[in-house]
Amino acid sequence: MNYKTKFALITSLLFTFISCNNNTENDKEVNGEETSEKVTLANDAHSFSNPNDVAVKHMHLDLAVDFERRTLSGSVRLDLDNKTNAEVLHLDSRQLNIDKIVLDNGEEASYELAEDVEYFGQDLAVNITPETKSINIYYQTSPEAEALQWLKPEQTAYGKNPFLFSQSQAILARTWIPCQDSPGVKFTYSATVKTNPELIALMSAENGNTKTGDGVYHFEMKQPISSYLLALTVGDLEFKSLGRNCGVFAEPNMLEKCAWEFADMQSMIDSAEALYGAYAWGQYDVVVLPPSFPFGGMENPRLTFATPTIIAGDRSLVALIAHELAHSWSGNLVTNETWNDFWLNEGFTVYFEQRIMEKIFGTPYEEMETKLGMGGLKQTIERLNKDGQIDDTHLYLDLDGRNPDDGLTDIAYEKGRFFLQTVEKAVGREKFDAFLKQYFTENAFKPMNTKRFEAYLDEHLLKGDSALYAAIQPKAWIYGPGLPETCPTPESEELDKVTTQIERFTTGTSASELEVEGWTTHHWLYFLRGLKGQVNTAQLADMDKAFGFTNSGNNEILCDWFQHCIALEYKDAYPSMDRFLTTVGRRKFLTPLYEPLAATEDGKAWAKDVYERAKPGYHAVSKNTIEGILYASE
Ligand code: BES
Ligand code: ZN
Repeated sequence: MNYKTKFALITSLLFTFISCNNNTENDKEVNGEETSEKVTLANDAHSFSNPNDVAVKHMHLDLAVDFERRTLSGSVRLDLDNKTNAEVLHLDSRQLNIDKIVLDNGEEASYELAEDVEYFGQDLAVNITPETKSINIYYQTSPEAEALQWLKPEQTAYGKNPFLFSQSQAILARTWIPCQDSPGVKFTYSATVKTNPELIALMSAENGNTKTGDGVYHFEMKQPISSYLLALTVGDLEFKSLGRNCGVFAEPNMLEKCAWEFADMQSMIDSAEALYGAYAWGQYDVVVLPPSFPFGGMENPRLTFATPTIIAGDRSLVALIAHELAHSWSGNLVTNETWNDFWLNEGFTVYFEQRIMEKIFGTPYEEMETKLGMGGLKQTIERLNKDGQIDDTHLYLDLDGRNPDDGLTDIAYEKGRFFLQTVEKAVGREKFDAFLKQYFTENAFKPMNTKRFEAYLDEHLLKGDSALYAAIQPKAWIYGPGLPETCPTPESEELDKVTTQIERFTTGTSASELEVEGWTTHHWLYFLRGLKGQVNTAQLADMDKAFGFTNSGNNEILCDWFQHCIALEYKDAYPSMDRFLTTVGRRKFLTPLYEPLAATEDGKAWAKDVYERAKPGYHAVSKNTIEGILYASE
């Protein structure tokens, strides 16, 4: 018997004797959804909840949205499955004001709200009885709730109405709903939300697509989901259908542009279904949020939240939609059990996204994306190595005691993708596709952890074949640092053309003489990245004159271009960079600019000035990161 099993046994025995609940190191057990099969959950170091003992099976929210006070207030009813006759229900809570908790027998429950622990919030321990089937928590969110961003009309595209959106991943759901905030716990939910009649409320659930007139909206999510997928947005949004079961929500003046950009959405869904099985969620919509949304996209079920920075006017950045759509299988159906298993969500999704994009846009396109991905991955590995965080280059992470946000890097995404590519190469595409389809089908609506995935891979694909293990080396990928020797080298003829032009430019050819006809965003990104550290200020000015980077309407290109401008203090671009930093709140674009700016005294002073003006428009997720960069050592 290994250490862990022994420990679990001793603790479970102890538990029987003292018949109390807490969330020490015992392995958790919950019911697998839609089957009677038991799944053993690993302990989640990022949650206070005790779902092994008593699990939330359904949640009903009844919330009023108050833009004046920047609060949500009302109640949540939690329906319980009390498997162990537990007398305490542990929930995650952070920045919440709890008024009272009422049991289903009408009695007020006693509860204890523990001290706040940094990042994790408070353990909300509610005293229940073995007979308690549900509880009602009456509460209000704080205006500072980290998951919620409240925007003034002037921070939106249309400018007439306020806007609200949530971002629950990784552990922010607890800042707007008291819940079992652990990705391994799945439950269904319903909600009633009341807001201003001129606004529409949308959730990651079944909903209408027009304003109701009275500001009251009802939602239903019949499939079990994890708390990090709970989502709400309220604003002046309109809908346009883009096919049989998909569409886009955007502010009125953005709607047509967004619909044009996302014209391929239905064929993305069709391609995805052809690859790995039926789409399980009915409708698939995307809502385009104001630019302060801190991520590129968030895979909220039935309703992806997306940044407007992908609306480039040429459909060049829509891989993000393929990515969030792919999460409808990898992540939303088969879910990382804890944040240490994050690569099971993101690595699979990047691989899946790549396959969708290949089907629709062709192999040369996919090859460019993959090669760009490798470039980013190598950089991340180098940075983590330099910072002494080599363990964070493993696919399986150890984030215990840390803010999961800190460990969620490119590694899960890109190293994850290349691991799966390695498996695909070793076994052949046909077998790998059959394997993945079966994996998504058999594990649908269940949590998955790294150990169980390894076992599944062994059982269904590798089957003890030593030649395959040698060709892949799964352990080196999952538990080892950096890139294993089995990693394929991505090739792209398109990007080779770019390499030729980089060589010409760095050896004296002027920018206007370079052969750049037909280049797409991907060519330009590869070009800019390939020039890092190889150009001088005169060459920057030459490029800018020829290609107009400073005034580009493409945010990906701008972000890479500004990095060159910072490195060489090319001040002509600073007004444009100021505009970029004060309008875009997507963290992925902010970090690579604030970091090098903070490295010099002048740069830091300039960055602080920009940040102080930009701050009111940034989401807490971005603010936390940027303040870490600008003010950490002070
Ligand atoms: N689920 C992630 C976003 C996320 C991850 C939020 C971890 C909070 C914690 C989403 O699917 C994602 O990966 N978004 C990327 C875009 C994607 C194309 C790589 C992003 O936001 O940049
Ligand atoms: Zn993702």
